[in-house]
Amino acid sequence: MSKNTYRSHHCSEINEKLEGAEVKICGWVHKVRDHGGVFFFDLRDRSGLCQIVFPESSKDHEKLRAEFVVSVTGIAKRRPDGMGNSQMASGQMEVEVKSIEVISEAETPPFPINTQEDTASENTRLKYRYLDLRKPHLQKIFKLRHEALQASRAYFTQKDFYEIETPILYKSTPEGARDYLVPSRVYPGSFFALPQSPQTLKQLLMVSGFERYFQIARCFRDEDNRADRQPEFTQLDLEMSFIDQEDILNTMEGFVKHLWKQVLNVDLKDRFPRIAYAEAMSSYGSDKPDLRFGLKISNISSVFEKTEFKVFSTVLSLGGAVTAISINEHEVKELPEWSRKDLDGFNTAVSPFGLRGVAWVRVKDGELSSPIAKFLSDEEKSQLKTSLKIEKNGYALIGAAECPTVFEAMGALRLEIARKLELIQPNSTDNWKFCWVVDFPLYEFNSEDQRLYAAHHPFTQPHKDDMDLFFSSETSDLRKVRANAYDLALNGFELGGGSLRIFDPKVQGKMFANLGLSPDEVTEKFGFFVEALQYGTPPHGGIAFGIDRVIMLMAGTKSIRDVIAFPKTASSLCLMSNTPSRVSADQLAELRISPTK
Ligand code: AMO
Repeated sequence: MSKNTYRSHHCSEINEKLEGAEVKICGWVHKVRDHGGVFFFDLRDRSGLCQIVFPESSKDHEKLRAEFVVSVTGIAKRRPDGMGNSQMASGQMEVEVKSIEVISEAETPPFPINTQEDTASENTRLKYRYLDLRKPHLQKIFKLRHEALQASRAYFTQKDFYEIETPILYKSTPEGARDYLVPSRVYPGSFFALPQSPQTLKQLLMVSGFERYFQIARCFRDEDNRADRQPEFTQLDLEMSFIDQEDILNTMEGFVKHLWKQVLNVDLKDRFPRIAYAEAMSSYGSDKPDLRFGLKISNISSVFEKTEFKVFSTVLSLGGAVTAISINEHEVKELPEWSRKDLDGFNTAVSPFGLRGVAWVRVKDGELSSPIAKFLSDEEKSQLKTSLKIEKNGYALIGAAECPTVFEAMGALRLEIARKLELIQPNSTDNWKFCWVVDFPLYEFNSEDQRLYAAHHPFTQPHKDDMDLFFSSETSDLRKVRANAYDLALNGFELGGGSLRIFDPKVQGKMFANLGLSPDEVTEKFGFFVEALQYGTPPHGGIAFGIDRVIMLMAGTKSIRDVIAFPKTASSLCLMSNTPSRVSADQLAELRISPTK
């Protein structure tokens, strides 16, 4: 640390080696304490805290209030025996004041900065975000974020990637959300769109011959925010030429391992498992399965092929499935004693998916009991016991509905069971279960407008084994086409996603047609892009990681807002600057915009 006129050291650098030396440190007054007439305070700077003690005769503490900015010159001393604090880097030391200068006074902050707990509402904290960010635990997150970004740059540079910036004032990019538009003053009535991702631009960089590109890219999506979504977020975005899917997955697996080692000092030894989308959905009911626990979903429809039980027979006759999650005594440390009320409580996990409920089964000392037992034949009961794989003691929850809804509902139930069984420790950061989900479907069918949408985006290459289906004109065939698309999931979160891209203009043309875009719409939206593909396009593919989500998981926080310096609220507002806000009539007139009420 270099000395300057404000300081000789940072707070956390005051250690035993400095005993007896004169030091000068500066920062914010964290907390003033009175120990029987001897006054102390903790001084806080970016590095941490240091205890400052006043000589008995001093009255200087009277001029201090929390959050004042001060400079302290004093003698570094060892704290008396038993008074050390092992939580602080400077915890065995204190600085006895020779002189203290108040550099800047502070109003009483709207909430205390010096407590671990958040005493104020999130809205108040976001309004005064610059004060919230002073809190040591948030400062730590931004140190981690900085280290992660630097480690990312180092990894991709070492792997021969170029960091290239792409424009923010651009054209609509098809990632499925609404665009943020920017009106043009020079061309009234025309708009830029802020990029939802640099997708088309990075593909054009491959046409340009850069072969390996990466960028820490700001993306904008006007969509509903959730705990892991923001309207403005950051991607670690990359694209590679002359590669196949394995090259991309291996590069990214190497990257994640590098990041975890550099930033968290964690060795991720195992290869990340690869799970086909269809398997992820049928076993976990999710395309981002949480693999920290078992509780796999099983399809037990075959047990009820001839059932008289109306609920199941109706579902099966309509092509649905009867599915179950078993809780075996081997899977949990101790099998809980769940009451009927506890078991019925699981209905709330599946009701958002339109299921009326789930049926429970209990096996105790090999005996099966269930509210639906009376509707089942002896053979069904015996087959059910075998297919649930509960030898002696356990529970199972059974859900029946149409596909794929039943699997999604059971996926949500699986998470709820895990929570109830406390199979995952909240904020645990030592249990990293990554997996690649591969072979996603190319299309999603929207039953409301009876149309196909690109499941990833319209530049994603169809799977080579499904090319015949892709060139079909039947929607039922197209719905079966798989894509060369992949996601990386971690502990139930999607960290990133990407695909190999179409590089044949004919395939790209058919893709647009399958999505119901007319030739005019294609020219209007992607004409420049399709034209570029005609000038010698290398095979290419890429991926983007949501950096904010990665940091959120690395830091063990629950909200993406914790890892973004100035985040928006769940309803896309910046409470600190009060934006979005009205602009002057002159500005609107210049843009030739007249608001409609
Ligand atoms: P995709 O849309 O899957 O792919 O986005 C990639 C990753 O970005 C993160 N992400 C978000 N993070 C925070 N807030 C949001 N609103 C948000 N939306 C997405 C997620 C996600 O996995 N261009 C393609 C990538 C490619 O094909 O190369 C794309 O953007 O972690």
